Amino acid sequence: MQLIRGKEVAETVLAECREEIAHLKARGITPGLAVVLVGDDPASRAYVRSKDRKCQELGLYSVRHELSAETTQDELLALVRQLNADPAIHGILVQSPPPPHIDEAAIVRAIDPAKDVDGFHPVNVAKLALEDPTGFVPCTPLGCQRLLQASGIETRGAHAVIVGRSMIVGKPMALLLMAKGPGGDATVTVTHSRTQNLPAITRQADILIAAIGRPHFIRAEHIKPGAVVIDVGINRIDDPTSEKGYRIVGDVAFDEVAPLCRAITPVPGGVGPMTIALLMSNTIKACRQLTATT
Ligand code: GUN
Repeated sequence: MQLIRGKEVAETVLAECREEIAHLKARGITPGLAVVLVGDDPASRAYVRSKDRKCQELGLYSVRHELSAETTQDELLALVRQLNADPAIHGILVQSPPPPHIDEAAIVRAIDPAKDVDGFHPVNVAKLALEDPTGFVPCTPLGCQRLLQASGIETRGAHAVIVGRSMIVGKPMALLLMAKGPGGDATVTVTHSRTQNLPAITRQADILIAAIGRPHFIRAEHIKPGAVVIDVGINRIDDPTSEKGYRIVGDVAFDEVAPLCRAITPVPGGVGPMTIALLMSNTIKACRQLTATT
């Protein structure tokens, strides 16, 4: 069994980012990312702070807007428009999910697609479906694809089964894996919470992507021996023995699944670090495209 070390692959992505940042800085350009959080969900707050920290580590310009849970739709829209117009900002990310009174789709539509480093804007969703390389692909599925490639796992002709159909992971993951070319060319099945007889389908997977957001949902019965398992889950579960009172576990019951696998990602240290590395990479891409002189 091969442990797919996301942290190490993420370092490779970040090293590429550092190189590109140096090139841009030589042209007098610093890529800038704005991260917006509405409300005080502790997990979301931890994510946006770690995104901000990574920007600073790399020498990117970053601004973090942490807004109260009472922020109105109009106030949030006004901030997005201000960031769209700010030439120092090349990437805009509004942390999902926002509080329930916010119309998230309308916020996403207000983001300039050229700055939509999350790849959530309808223009970028369409570009992914169209295999247009100028678009932005959501960071988590892009990170999963990169992990497979860096680990020497052939997707071409493989049966990839995705558990979860979210706009953030499941759907874009399916589009990436079925796209033509390296890291794609897979036969893709998308399953979800209403799928009947799930284990019979996941047991056909050469590559299983678990992205349902339920702790330890994928068990030994879901696995074909020799499968590759990518665990996208980041779930907080109570753990009185830990200092924080909780610990992070994936969507996969690692201890019983890992012995059956050819390769598997751990949680933490698997997909998580890749997501943030690809966010940096998307921000640099946005900067390059927005500042291109030819
Ligand atoms: N919430 C969970 N994952 C993500 C992500 O990749 N981007 C944003 N904006 N929100 C998220």
